[in-house]
Amino acid sequence: MGATKPALVANWETLQRIFIRPEDEDSRRTLIKYMEQILFGLHEFLKAHVGITREASLEALSERFTESRICSHPQKKLADVIQGIIEEIAPHAVNVASPYFIGHMTSAIPFFMVHLHTITAALNQNVVKMETSKVVSIIERQVLAKLHRLIFGCSGDFYNTHIQAPTSTLGGFVDDGTLANLTAMWVARNRCFPPKEGFEGVEAAGIAAAHRAYGVDRSVILVSGLAHYSLRKAGGVLGIGSGNIISVPSSVDHRMDPERLEAVIQELKSGASRTRILGVVAIAGATETGTVDPLDAVADICSREKIHFHVDAAWGGPTLLSDKYRSLLKGIERADSVTIDGHKQFYMPMGCGMVFFRDPRVMDLIAYHAAYINRPGSVDLGIRSLEGSRPAVSLVLGSALEIMGSRGYALLIEHGIETARAFAEEIEKRPLFALVTPPQLNILTYRVFPEEIRRRWASTGPEERARLMRQGNEINIAVQRIQREAGQSFVSRTTLDNAVVLRAVIMNPMTHMGILRDILDEQEEIYRREVLRKA
Ligand SMILES: Cc1ncc(COP(=O)(O)O)c(C=O)c1O
Repeated sequence: MGATKPALVANWETLQRIFIRPEDEDSRRTLIKYMEQILFGLHEFLKAHVGITREASLEALSERFTESRICSHPQKKLADVIQGIIEEIAPHAVNVASPYFIGHMTSAIPFFMVHLHTITAALNQNVVKMETSKVVSIIERQVLAKLHRLIFGCSGDFYNTHIQAPTSTLGGFVDDGTLANLTAMWVARNRCFPPKEGFEGVEAAGIAAAHRAYGVDRSVILVSGLAHYSLRKAGGVLGIGSGNIISVPSSVDHRMDPERLEAVIQELKSGASRTRILGVVAIAGATETGTVDPLDAVADICSREKIHFHVDAAWGGPTLLSDKYRSLLKGIERADSVTIDGHKQFYMPMGCGMVFFRDPRVMDLIAYHAAYINRPGSVDLGIRSLEGSRPAVSLVLGSALEIMGSRGYALLIEHGIETARAFAEEIEKRPLFALVTPPQLNILTYRVFPEEIRRRWASTGPEERARLMRQGNEINIAVQRIQREAGQSFVSRTTLDNAVVLRAVIMNPMTHMGILRDILDEQEEIYRREVLRKA
């Protein structure tokens, strides 16, 4: 029998030790040992495990974690916690870094991101105010200006004037794309209902008072057919109602149809209820299809109608770094506001949303002050920010831009787009599959469309087609599920025009055509082995 470990106790002496700083050789060694344990332990996991396996079901995992009391004494030392995470938790997490994981917008990150994230944790700056971040807030403004320039391309003079001016705000960091879209719509709403004689503005008086003051029955936001559901959340939070987020029908290529947009606007303007359009939201890289709306045409309509034009480029924004493909986003520079996510195609760890405004004064519409921080006249970033305390993820992005250069990011973007195109060609070559949405950027959808169904589809009427659609959907659901559970690779699925489709997001630079062929081979094999045989 091994010696029993001494019980762990929480006391002042041990507390002192956990606030350890690398002051002497011993503490340095200890800190390095833990970092090594994390970096190399997890590295092994990242190499060894793929996908979402059925080894442990969600039910079985849930049964392991049912303790709802906090233990009064310490249960584990840090080394044991780290080892436990490496051995017990990581194998049941999802290896999103695998090149065979092509189902979502979450993927491998360059290893330096882990180091940069460690720096922000170690510095623990709070960019809500200068008093807890000083130069880090100033750097954040520089990072925002760099991306603002990438999007809007204003003059050098413009940036010299606004980059560090306390009264100018080129944009803001938030936790994610959802909050970035919400911030943009918050500003758009306040632009529509500013203070006037007898009315203190929608921000103070609320939406009902704004409608009364402006003689409006309802406010709406017009969005692209494939708009992210975060915009419906914004409708709810901003008090206009998620039901007033109106989807503009798309054309056959799943992009917003400018003629239909025009028609919806005219219909709303001439309708019986007095409707205020707070904004139009186009997408540059739709979540499901990666499609880019015709930004220039939408911008023409918005500028003529004087409607706030927002581009949700949460996914596609970094395409602007590629000289070869930036024209795919032509017209984005005419937006009033733009969302971009750092944790998507800037390959950052989770938790970096950004919103940018062409007009550096427009974020004043959401300014808040408090007596203890963010006092009027101060330069605190928390004055015009949805969130309060925030980590300095801008330091990570700013450093990543220095490490990668725009060309480094462009290589990643170009690899994604070109591999997606080659993948689409491969899909079209294989008789079992049909390409549903070709890649405009680096996302595509396709479906298993067996010869038998394809033949009948071509020669039958709507009722039989509906039945064939259901049958085809069941096949695609089964193939996707079985592949996911086998754990070798992962492709996601969604539904477009009632058809269940398989969705591939090509962002991992390690994903190459050999891997994509393997994924299709596996799907063919699953179809033959599991679906066809059981039918
Ligand atoms: C186009 C688009 N907008 C917004 C979002 C929301 O981003 P987040 O998940 O970071 O909130 C997503 C997420 O996938 C997206 O694809």
